[in-house]
Amino acid sequence: MLYSLYTRRLRRQLVGLPKPQHVAIAMDGNRRWAKRAGYDDVRIGHRFGAEHLELFLQWCADAGIPCVTAWVASPSNLRKRDADQVDYLMNLTETVLAEHVRRDNRWRLHVAGQLDLLPDSTARALKEAVEETRDRPDAGDLTIAIAYSGRLEVLDAVRSVLDEAAADGRSIEEVADALSEDDISRHLYVPGLPDPELVIRTSGELRMSDFLLWQATGSEIEFCDLYWPAFREVDLLRALRTYGRRRLERSS
Ligand code: IPE
Ligand code: MG
Repeated sequence: MLYSLYTRRLRRQLVGLPKPQHVAIAMDGNRRWAKRAGYDDVRIGHRFGAEHLELFLQWCADAGIPCVTAWVASPSNLRKRDADQVDYLMNLTETVLAEHVRRDNRWRLHVAGQLDLLPDSTARALKEAVEETRDRPDAGDLTIAIAYSGRLEVLDAVRSVLDEAAADGRSIEEVADALSEDDISRHLYVPGLPDPELVIRTSGELRMSDFLLWQATGSEIEFCDLYWPAFREVDLLRALRTYGRRRLERSS
């Protein structure tokens, strides 16, 4: 009851404030959440976390945010964590995440990251979901960042600029002379999206950790102390309020 009053109040406070078109979320703290909730198996945190993303997408759609990027895992998460945790996470990606986007026609799916680091079945499930959701009119853009590193994304972009130039028969000197920010932007994993104006990281970690290195140079950052599965709609609305007030102040 109090919660829904508070939600309504926050929604009212957002009226007339600048709103981000693109929100990126680093969904951190799943295992800590599971431990605190008394689960011995920390993978349960990832299950709750994956299901939580569905709610988050619903809240974003309700708030009129047409573009969302969600960070699932970095290459080093996949390399360094126990195989049973990684397998479980990949399975969730296939069965919860990819499946959800197939059913929920409010989103077109994009995938950002080093897909060759994923098991074949996961890469395939994501690619199929991307294909299946491609032609949805009026849908928002959801990017799943998986096996994703911002530095590697920029490296990959530079590589593909060079590959393109080589295919066109241009010399290294010509490429170096003409290289622009736009060239890098055009070769990111998902070109054509607006930069995220708001990045949220949960769990109290105060780092960007290689998330959207190129895209987030001008983003407002919201660090939230809650573990990801505990993040609520009011926390999103509060982040949007902070964002709106900061931008309004700067523009005045
Ligand atoms: C974030 O949750 C999701 C992944 C990196 C896979 P964590 O798994 O990092 O959970 P914590 O931060 O250890 O609690
Ligand atoms: Mg973590």
